[in-house]
Amino acid sequence: MVRLFVNKYPQYNIYNVDKLTYAGNLANLKDIEDKPNYHFIKADICDFPLMLDIMQRDNIDGIIHLAAESHVDRSIKDPFTFAQTNVMGTLSLLQAAKAYWESLPEKFEGKRFYHISTDEVYGALEVPHPEGIKPPFTTKASSGEHHLAYGEKFFTEDLKYQPHSPYSAAKASSDHFVRAFHDTFGMPTIVTNCSNNYGPYQFPEKLIPLFINNIRHRKPLPVYGKGENVRDWLYVEDHARAIDLIFHQGKVAETYNIGGFNEWKNIDIIKVVINTVDRLLGRPEGADMDLITYVTDRAGHDMRYAIDSSKLQRELGWEPSLQFEEGIEKTVRWYLDNQEWMDNITSGDYVKYYEDMYKNR
Ligand code: TYD
Repeated sequence: MVRLFVNKYPQYNIYNVDKLTYAGNLANLKDIEDKPNYHFIKADICDFPLMLDIMQRDNIDGIIHLAAESHVDRSIKDPFTFAQTNVMGTLSLLQAAKAYWESLPEKFEGKRFYHISTDEVYGALEVPHPEGIKPPFTTKASSGEHHLAYGEKFFTEDLKYQPHSPYSAAKASSDHFVRAFHDTFGMPTIVTNCSNNYGPYQFPEKLIPLFINNIRHRKPLPVYGKGENVRDWLYVEDHARAIDLIFHQGKVAETYNIGGFNEWKNIDIIKVVINTVDRLLGRPEGADMDLITYVTDRAGHDMRYAIDSSKLQRELGWEPSLQFEEGIEKTVRWYLDNQEWMDNITSGDYVKYYEDMYKNR
């Protein structure tokens, strides 16, 4: 998103505020770091005086808030960090924006606080149709035999929040705070809830980059439970395009769901990833299927996420740009071409963390 905004809007000054914890990596934005409209600030969003200072010093008139702890497995191990960053960090940003904007003559006029959230706040859907059904919609993102839904129910914007994991509970809480700042103080807020993202630069604790790297090194692929859980996958640049559109044209106080109508069972997506990696590495197709290793299920593992993004498609004309097959191909290619990026990450402390985590499961 930062890359998109810096390149597309030379007239904006973009301040990228990041604490650079384990998943943060300045190498991800190397190609834009010398642009005159790009500014990096290493800071913790929980530091309210510093957030206020940045707001005042740099005359910030819009906030797009993506700073969060986001990995469910980590939240099961360490929920405190999730409450701290996701809830208290959001509150600190809200309060800083409010204090600064209220001090200006025009107050909230022309300002925007846009909070990025997750579909996981809605809880989990069932999988009443294990073989999938033809859904009543068409998008560019899905095609052919994979153009399936695993039930008739979808997450819509008016659904009750029912978070199950400490991660989604923390995100749900932060969403409530954002809406409360609109309802109580009239802050111009917007919330969006997006489905699973995939694509370049994703930290390899998430399913797709983790598995691409493991397949490359012929390491086991830990599939939780039976691999029957369903996720709705969106290419990261399509999410960034949606954020751009909503930041500029979305209606204040509204919520928009973002997703690709692109549901996959974990085990099916894993097979696609294996076949793609094998093909691009010149291995016989399917050679690495035996790396699939069924392991103890994640505690409280949500069965199905399925976003209904028709409001966004209808009201703002957004639609995903990529066929899923294209997106996966691009993604696998990127990780294989950027092995050094991956090696830098997987050679450090992260490896130890990852091994400890699995020892303690
Ligand atoms: P993940 O990338 O962690 O995203 P989320 O939990 O937010 O959906 O996981 C995607 C799915 O893949 C989820 O159903 C859990 C499963 N999974 C595995 O089976 N094995 C793994 O090693 C990981 C990381 C995830």
